[in-house]
Amino acid sequence: MTTPFPPPPVDTIDWNNVGFKVREVNGHIESHFSYSGGGTWSEPKFVASPHLQIHGMAPGLNYGQQAYEGMKAFRSPGNKKVTIFRPNRNAVRMQHSADFVSIPRVPEEHFIKCVNLAVAANAEFVPPHETGAAMYIRPLIFGSGAQLGLNPPDEYTFVVFVMPTGVYHGVHAVDALILEDFDRSAPEGTGSAKVGGNYAPVLRHSQRAYAEKYGITLHLDSKTRSEIDEFSTSAFIGVRKNPTTKNDVTIVVPDSKNVIDSVTASSVYELASKALGYKVEKRRIPYEELKEFDEVFAAGTAAALVPIKSITMKSRNDKFSYNVGSDESGGEVCSKLLKMLKGIQNGTVEDKFSWNFVV
Ligand code: COI
Repeated sequence: MTTPFPPPPVDTIDWNNVGFKVREVNGHIESHFSYSGGGTWSEPKFVASPHLQIHGMAPGLNYGQQAYEGMKAFRSPGNKKVTIFRPNRNAVRMQHSADFVSIPRVPEEHFIKCVNLAVAANAEFVPPHETGAAMYIRPLIFGSGAQLGLNPPDEYTFVVFVMPTGVYHGVHAVDALILEDFDRSAPEGTGSAKVGGNYAPVLRHSQRAYAEKYGITLHLDSKTRSEIDEFSTSAFIGVRKNPTTKNDVTIVVPDSKNVIDSVTASSVYELASKALGYKVEKRRIPYEELKEFDEVFAAGTAAALVPIKSITMKSRNDKFSYNVGSDESGGEVCSKLLKMLKGIQNGTVEDKFSWNFVV
């Protein structure tokens, strides 16, 4: 007799307080590659452990030769199925990142197969539909062949971890701080790659900002320090309304070669134009325009959409405030877009764009 899929959620987790933290699940998926072994990725293998066996001289550890991804899986109403949101987009983005750090590309089909297997092998940890929580999926790729010289090694490892999570940054509006004494990425650097080297150097600055009660940090472009790039954890989205009528919504996202191509932001961008009839603009956003926005929000897989209450730039004594709704759960535009995005993801709104991949 076959066991029905998906299995019900485990009852060992308080599903209404999942949080955003590491949790033990059944295990992860591994696939390996070596040039000397033929230059193809091995068939995925399930490993019943959160630990990796890794040589201490792996360039992934020593030289930052790694890249990662983030996606989410959702349980549909009535526990009928589990779906993953736009994994094909993440597959392509991981190939983009891999090129930056001389890691062989994982073919899209193989990427999706590994991600599917990781979710399927841990399906009882996909949160109940009603909770609004999701299973966070973390694919990770790194140079794993021991290597002392600064050359690409022979061996690479691709792994997929999963864990149940709520949303990063919580569900309420946060204050943002522009980081002024640190450039996230060099003008001709790795800014568009989802590599750990773009994240670790931010930590000491974001920790300082959190201590000062800012909930999120924002980066300007490093060449001119005059345009908006992205938040440290997620993409930037600005909302303009006609100043007289307060209608005619325009969604503005940065066009910068140094930001990560956010799957959430581009989904919002598409929903805004195709489903809600808003104007959308992908273009450079000068710092001066921050005072023109009615709403600002951060968009990311982990974050979903985070309403931004204010943006501060200390050296200029500027603090711009935005509409986040009376209960601080988001202004009108943010709330509308989030409702639609979440609805598509969790199966309560028709998926007209075929964004959901059934596990
Ligand atoms: C994601 O949103 O998936 C990310 O990778 C951001 C990370 C800082 C949690």
